[in-house]
Amino acid sequence: MVRIAIMASGSGSNAEAIMQYFQNHNRIQVALLVTSNPKAFVIERAVKAGIPIIVIGKSIYDDGEKLNDLLRRFDIEYVILAGYLKAIPAPTIQSFPHRILNIHPSLLPHFGGKGMFGIHVHEAVVQARATQSGITIHFVTEEYDEGPIIFQQSIAVNPEWDAPTLQQAILPLEHFHYPRVIEEVINYSACK
Ligand code: GRF
Repeated sequence: MVRIAIMASGSGSNAEAIMQYFQNHNRIQVALLVTSNPKAFVIERAVKAGIPIIVIGKSIYDDGEKLNDLLRRFDIEYVILAGYLKAIPAPTIQSFPHRILNIHPSLLPHFGGKGMFGIHVHEAVVQARATQSGITIHFVTEEYDEGPIIFQQSIAVNPEWDAPTLQQAILPLEHFHYPRVIEEVINYSACK
């Protein structure tokens, strides 16, 4: 089994879609949920799915060696960021080359970078009157939101939409594609 960890800090709707997709999968197993937020709703979702949960504080999420130890203890091969709001420290990025994935709710490189998370992304898209938005799944590198893009899916933005409406239109795309792209990346690297 290829063991993956999900890291999330908020609601965890993507985490739930991933946990469901890989339930009873023959090759890939969600072996751990790591959260930086003890109050995150994602914890309830992981409890329901029967996934082990670890809540980490600053002394771990800021310390790549300690984070590596934790991930190693659970035999994690891939790390899946799903609304994780802390930066991944450099030693962890270096220990998991092309093995940390993130999803961003816009068409990177547009509307990415510092402060661009959650509803802020959609607010910026609406404010810019962009006609297209979508999702980007990418590898995580030390350059925030700039790692190699694996997959994008765009949608037309209705000019009458506000940011929450745009978010509602984009979330189902995330839930559908993220688990499938994770599966493809893992299968592809197994073939190499
Ligand atoms: C999603 O929009 C994802 O693209 C971004 O953070 C949000 C997390 O939402 N990285 P949820 O917690 O999975 O519902």
